Amino acid sequence: MLGAPSCQMPTPKKIGVLTGGGDAPGLNAVIRAVVKSAHNAGVAVLGLEDSFDGLIFRGRTRELAPHDVTGIIRLGGTILGTVSRGDPFVVPIETPDGTFDYTERVLEMLGVLSLDGLVCIGGDGTLAIAHKFHTLGVPLVGVPKTIDNDIVGTNSCFGFDTAVSFATDAIDRLHTTAAAHRRVMVVEVMGRNAGWIAVHAGVAGGADVILIPEIPYDADKVAERIRQRERWGARFSIVVVAEGAMPKDGQAVVKEAAHDGYAERLGGAGMRCVRELEPRVEKEVRCVVLGHLQRGGAPTAFDRTLATRFGGKAVELLLTNTFGMMVANRPPDIVAVPLADIVGRTKTVPLDIDLIKTARALGVSFGD
Ligand code: F6P
Repeated sequence: MLGAPSCQMPTPKKIGVLTGGGDAPGLNAVIRAVVKSAHNAGVAVLGLEDSFDGLIFRGRTRELAPHDVTGIIRLGGTILGTVSRGDPFVVPIETPDGTFDYTERVLEMLGVLSLDGLVCIGGDGTLAIAHKFHTLGVPLVGVPKTIDNDIVGTNSCFGFDTAVSFATDAIDRLHTTAAAHRRVMVVEVMGRNAGWIAVHAGVAGGADVILIPEIPYDADKVAERIRQRERWGARFSIVVVAEGAMPKDGQAVVKEAAHDGYAERLGGAGMRCVRELEPRVEKEVRCVVLGHLQRGGAPTAFDRTLATRFGGKAVELLLTNTFGMMVANRPPDIVAVPLADIVGRTKTVPLDIDLIKTARALGVSFGD
C-alpha cells in the first residue's frame, strides 16, 4: 500500500484528474488549478471523462494544458463530466473490449495511460472508491466536493457557499411575496442527511423556522411559532426545511429507495410540512423546492478560492509522493488528512454550535 511520502520514489511525470458524484460549483476551478500547477511543475495532466469511466473505456481521456482550462474558474458543472452510479465494484464492467472486473480494468488502464498519479475530486462515494484503489496501490489524492458540507475532516467543501448563497437569495425573494399575501412559505433545500444548508441559509435569510435532520420536529411547535408571529402582527412566516428533516414520530421522506449500491434519494419534506401545517394555522401554506438550482451556476468567490487552493494542494501532495490523502480546509491552512479517516462517515450539524444557539436566542424555532 502506498501512503506516507517516500524519498525513493520518482516524482510523477503524468497525472490524471477526474470528477465523480453529483456536480458542485467549483469543480472546474479545481481542474484548472490542478492543470496549471502541474504544468508549471513540468507534469502532464490527462483529464478522465465521466469519473472512473475514463479509466474503463478507451478514448474517454484528453490531455489538458493551461489553454484548455483558461476561463473555466467561473463555470459551474464540470468540463470532464461526472457520474454518480453507486458502488461500481459490485458488478462486472461491460466494455467494447470485453467484460472486466472493475478493479482489474482500472489498474490495467492506469498502466496503459502511463499515469503516475490521480486526483479524484468527489463526494463521499467517489472518495470511498478512491480509498479502495489506494489500498490496492494506486497513487492518488482526494479532493472533497459537496454542496451538503457533510464530509468529515474538512471545515468546508467548495460548492456549499454557492448553494447557501443561492438559497439565501431565494428566501429573500420569498419574503416579499409571503408578506404581500400573508402566507407561510415553506422552502425545501438539499443537504441529504445533514442540515448545513438549511441552517446557514435559514439564518442568513432570516427564516422563522428551520427544520433539520439533526433535530426531529413537532408540527404543533412549528405551528405555535407561526401563530405567535401572527399575534404580534407578522403577516407571514418563512419555514426552511432540509430535505432530510423528519417529524419526531417519523422518518425522512424518501423519493427513491437505495438500490444496487445507489444511495436513497430524498425529497418531499417540504410538501409533508405543508400538509402538517395547513390544518394547524389559519393561513395559506405554499411550498417551494429549490432542488438542483442549488448546484448550478457560477461558484461564489469563496468557493473559487477554496477550490483553487484544494487543486493546488492536491498537486503538491502528488509531487511529494504523499498518497492516500484528502485535502482539507483547516483555516488558515489547507492540510492533508488520510482518506481512511473520512470514508464511511458523515459530518452532521452539532447541536451546540454557536449558529444554532444564536438562532435560538433570536427566536428561530427548530420545531423542538
Ligand atoms: O449530495 C448533493 C446532493 O445535491 C444532495 O443534496 C441531494 O440529496 C442529492 O445530491 C441529489 O442527487 P441527484 O442529483 O442524484 O438527484
